Amino acid sequence: MKIGIPKEVYKAECRVAATPDTAKHLVKLGFDVLIESGAGESANFTNNAYVESECKIVPDAQTLWAEADIVLKVRPPQMHPELSKHEAELLNEGSTLIGFIWPAQNSELLDKLAAHKVTVLAMDAVPRITRAQKMDALSSMANLAGYRAVIEAANHFGRFFNGQITAAGKVPPAKVLVIGAGVAGLAAIGTAKSLGAIVRAFDTRLVVKEQIESLGAEFLELNFAEDGTGEGGYAKVMSEEFISAEMELFATQAKEIDIIITTALIPGKKAPVLVTQEMVESMKAGSVIVDLAAEQGGNCAVTKPGEIYCYKGVTIVGLTDLPSRMAQQASQLYGTNVYNLLKEMGGGDRFKINLEDEVIRGALVVHAGKITWPPPKKEDKGEKEDKGDKEDKANSSVKVSVSPSPRVPTSSSVNVTTSPSPRVWAPSSVPNSSYSKVNKDLWLVLIGLAIFGIGISAPSNFLSHLSVFVLACFIGWQVIWNVKPALHTPLMSVTNAISGIIIIGGMLQISEVSSSPTTILGAIAILIGTINICGGFLVTQRMLRMFQK
Ligand code: NAI
Repeated sequence: MKIGIPKEVYKAECRVAATPDTAKHLVKLGFDVLIESGAGESANFTNNAYVESECKIVPDAQTLWAEADIVLKVRPPQMHPELSKHEAELLNEGSTLIGFIWPAQNSELLDKLAAHKVTVLAMDAVPRITRAQKMDALSSMANLAGYRAVIEAANHFGRFFNGQITAAGKVPPAKVLVIGAGVAGLAAIGTAKSLGAIVRAFDTRLVVKEQIESLGAEFLELNFAEDGTGEGGYAKVMSEEFISAEMELFATQAKEIDIIITTALIPGKKAPVLVTQEMVESMKAGSVIVDLAAEQGGNCAVTKPGEIYCYKGVTIVGLTDLPSRMAQQASQLYGTNVYNLLKEMGGGDRFKINLEDEVIRGALVVHAGKITWPPPKKEDKGEKEDKGDKEDKANSSVKVSVSPSPRVPTSSSVNVTTSPSPRVWAPSSVPNSSYSKVNKDLWLVLIGLAIFGIGISAPSNFLSHLSVFVLACFIGWQVIWNVKPALHTPLMSVTNAISGIIIIGGMLQISEVSSSPTTILGAIAILIGTINICGGFLVTQRMLRMFQK
């Protein structure tokens, strides 16, 4: 089966759907890989690199599209500038196209593709569930965009991000505000923080508070009992009162913040305008706003999509091609997402569109000339116990597996749950509970019998040692697993003290030169205790260095 990778024809698009590395993996999956000559050039991948990965270079686009059974693209098909033909028309009847399609916004394109009797999988429609994380190209690109947003901001900001004390005077750290802490927002927070800025962040979904704080940023809270967590963990449209309270907060922040990065979006909706013209005017001269939602209308009232310009002393970055500006990395991540999808579909030898596979069905927007988007809503078969997952299944065709924990709001303050990260998906199914209960009971009976057997046959001396050993294991387990990450350093001190006692015990045992088991065990105890202490110090040093400015 032949895979074709054409050169992207969208103006200034530098990404390519497969890198030499991902193409090599596609070859290993059993595909013949054809690359249009120069397809990877803008992402710094030469034809030679593809040849070394056992790909065949095809000199022109027409031949490539004609020969391929599966075409991999980044951008949706469009008019080919050199062939004066729409890329959808270049596809062979019965062939498959994989790429970003944005079916909700591109119904005409779907009709065109369906008319050519092809099959199309949209990378942007891959359901955001645990199993599909490795195929989640939206997250791959948003992660890059968040990172690049900070780099763009730094480029236009005429000052350091970190605070410094120099002979020429004290430099205060830059203050960055990130609005919306999805994948892009969290990547921006992490990057700005690592450059040394003071970072504040706001999101309507309270579940992200812990993630924001774990990245070292401050979560700005509103005195408002409304949580923005909607279906399946995505954001929901907030009440007008909430939006105006939120905007009041931004208006206060704008006066002292140097850089604002906005990423606020509700899937399928126009981006809410959260930074008004007045707020921009209240910012200090030299400040920067990077509006990641520019393509969806922008979170800032004065954003010009695709442009960078200066508005009354404030640089407004409305770029819509941030991942393409990191084309090499973006192509590698995107190519890996596509490779994982093709692997899911059986690879070169057993390639098939499995409609029973929820990932494939979710991404399938045209099947053999028939429009299959949006995918049907799934019935809740009761295999998931988690309430959030149930709601998600019943209500939404776009699935994510994150499920917020139930939250008990108070009237005066915002309550925060400790749900997992939006991208740390919950398991897609839980084992049958009655089956696992029987299993558990069986284990308890077996353990009980074993203890009874040991109790009646073992010497009393052994029994007292055994009970100390079991208790030590149990307490040790509880101590290690139930400790909050923030307390790991004090925990390390305690374990170091225990290791010290072990080392002294070991030294007492090896004081006599002999090769008895006690001496050998003593030597092993000294070795392991020493590794634990030295390793602990090394890790602590590394952690401290991470927090030092
Ligand atoms: P996401 O849906 O995971 O995150 C959006 C976040 O905004 C969510 O956490 C949501 O709770 C929050 N939000 C929604 N309404 C809000 C409000 N009123 N106030 C505060 N927060 C609010 O999306 P993702 O993947 O992180 O992408 C973020 C944005 O970046 C999107 O607009 C996406 O289209 C854009 N993007 C732009 C690129 C570019 O080149 N400019 C490239 C990739 C993504």
